[in-house]
Amino acid sequence: MDLLEHQARDLFAAHGVPVPRGRVAETPEEARAAAVAIGGAVVVKAQVKTGGRGKAGGVKLAATPDDAERLAGEILGMDIKGHRVHRVLVTEASDIADEYYVSYLLDRADRTFLAMVSAAGGMDIEEVAATRPEALVRVPVDVRVGVDLVKARKIAAAAGLPVDAACVLVRLWDVFTAEDATLVEVNPLARTADGEIVALDGKVTVDDNAAFRQAGHQAFADAEAGDPLEQQAAEQGLNYVKLDGDIGVIGNGAGLVMSTLDVVAAAAHEAGAVGPANFLDIGGGASAEVMSAGLGLILGDPAVRSVFVNVFGGITACDAVADGIVKALALLGERATKPLVVRLDGNNVAEGRRILAEAAHPLVTVVATMDDAAREAAKLAAGAEG
Ligand SMILES: Nc1ncnc2c1ncn2[C@@H]1O[C@H](COP(=O)(O)OP(=O)(O)O)[C@@H](O)[C@H]1O
Ligand SMILES: [Mg+2]
Repeated sequence: MDLLEHQARDLFAAHGVPVPRGRVAETPEEARAAAVAIGGAVVVKAQVKTGGRGKAGGVKLAATPDDAERLAGEILGMDIKGHRVHRVLVTEASDIADEYYVSYLLDRADRTFLAMVSAAGGMDIEEVAATRPEALVRVPVDVRVGVDLVKARKIAAAAGLPVDAACVLVRLWDVFTAEDATLVEVNPLARTADGEIVALDGKVTVDDNAAFRQAGHQAFADAEAGDPLEQQAAEQGLNYVKLDGDIGVIGNGAGLVMSTLDVVAAAAHEAGAVGPANFLDIGGGASAEVMSAGLGLILGDPAVRSVFVNVFGGITACDAVADGIVKALALLGERATKPLVVRLDGNNVAEGRRILAEAAHPLVTVVATMDDAAREAAKLAAGAEG
């Protein structure tokens, strides 16, 4: 599990790594209140699980609480590389003298841990790594010894970091081992004008295999789980995103589902339905079990009024998918209550359609093309028929 910056920051603080004061905000007003509480200039930072937030305009300096409120208004709701911003971290602005890069990671290829450190940290670290690889020092860490102060001093010296960064390196190693992390990255680890060493950004990946002995990590997952259906989907290993409409959508393959959403949105608009109720990709296999898990999930959404199952038979042929649908409906029994429009195409389509026709389930309508099927599902959702 990847953690958000503010979650990483909390772990850092718990292990004695110096971090700037900060507060999470979900609205511009909360960001203003955070800025007032912190006092002085603050930095408003998008909380999304992707790097390069600074370059994308997701990290902004605010001189006053008014600025913090306005900038939070701009950053909240932003899309950064496909990640919607729901929260910002408002932190004390540091007066940065130098920016360093520090990470600990699991080096699977060499079966060891690795420290990667550079005196040229900050937003251009990728370019540094590409153009001046010698500026990014890689030091293997013996798992039996770890990073003690002696080792930390060697690492700091090798990378040209000040000697007082060494004790922060030791504490970051504590984070790495005590939290069962597979990655701890700080960029920038800053030296301020006053000579303090502070972690201004943090990226932590914790090993899900250690969840049984890291009870505290559950809170990070809980904070993420917004929609209960999304949570249920995640538990079942389904690739599901809840949307605002009334037409459930199931497809195999993310590309197909994405284009299905477009077609359904247009058909809904014409028919007076709301639009797609979800994104659900059941993947290439589309077995009866996965199909019934997917259908069960969608039928459990009270907003759904009709369901569009759009499957293109490839490696998994249409007859297997049709079989999956029939078995899924049988498995669901009385829980299957809403009309289903099925469009099958591709490998072995004739046999697939025959299976559905033979089953003649009262809730299922088979439609030959994607556009017509979307229109039918939209009509059903709008209540014009069915
Ligand atoms: N608290 C802070 N005070 C001053 N500058 C900051 C602070 N946090 C971040 N910055 C500046 O913004 C840049 C980008 O922020 P960072 O948190 O590293 O986001 P990202 O790595 O996603 O771009 C940092 O390299 C640093 O120069
Ligand atoms: Mg950074």
